Amino acid sequence: MNWDNHLVIKPKWNGEIINKEKKLELAKKVAAMVKEGQVIGFGSGSTSFLAIGEIAKRMEDENLHITAIPTSKEVEMLCHYLSIPTTNLLEQKPDWNFDGADEVDEKKNLIKGRGAAMFQEKLVMGCSKERYILIDESKRVKVLGEKFAVPVEIYSNSMNFVKQELLKLGAKEVTLRLAKMKDGPVITENGNVILDTKFDIIEEDLEKKIKEITGVIESGLFIGYDVTVIS
Ligand code: A5P
Repeated sequence: MNWDNHLVIKPKWNGEIINKEKKLELAKKVAAMVKEGQVIGFGSGSTSFLAIGEIAKRMEDENLHITAIPTSKEVEMLCHYLSIPTTNLLEQKPDWNFDGADEVDEKKNLIKGRGAAMFQEKLVMGCSKERYILIDESKRVKVLGEKFAVPVEIYSNSMNFVKQELLKLGAKEVTLRLAKMKDGPVITENGNVILDTKFDIIEEDLEKKIKEITGVIESGLFIGYDVTVIS
């Protein structure tokens, strides 16, 4: 039986999409890569949002059947609205995945997590043989951390300890990410909180060092992942 009172009405991006024209071009490129029968990891954020819309168009126009593994609630709801079947990592493995990024350096290292989805994004990327990162030129940086803090998702009761340890790793500023339409902190889809952590220097081993702190679930640093950047 179907619901007649769907809350998931036509999904809109929350706010303005920066560099929308370029992102739409990237969205079309990634949609053109989709092949019949594939299982694809869907990233989160505005670039992925546009890509998913373009994939849905191809599915409808060409009667393509694909299955998505969403990396956030936002994307899961978008898939439901667009009638894109979804699965999860317990059931299936992605043939490939696509995602956006906040910063990309010359070695294709990334900062992600502006939208707080980096834990599931990293998990889905880790399970994918081929990984595609879609970026407009504004995302390219000489040095990681130029523009964005590194988001660190943590178990909430560990926040004082984790902050202390992040400061020992050289963090200059550690800020608890606050929600916009809710009092208090952003609570992630995994029930955790986020510490936005500013570093002056991001060494290649920083991702691993952050991950070793008890209480840390995941960080938005993606260092040394084998990704193909599409721009
Ligand atoms: C989601 O948490 C993020 O990792 C996004 O993938 C990243 O912030 C890129 O977002 P845009 O495509 O909106 O720039």
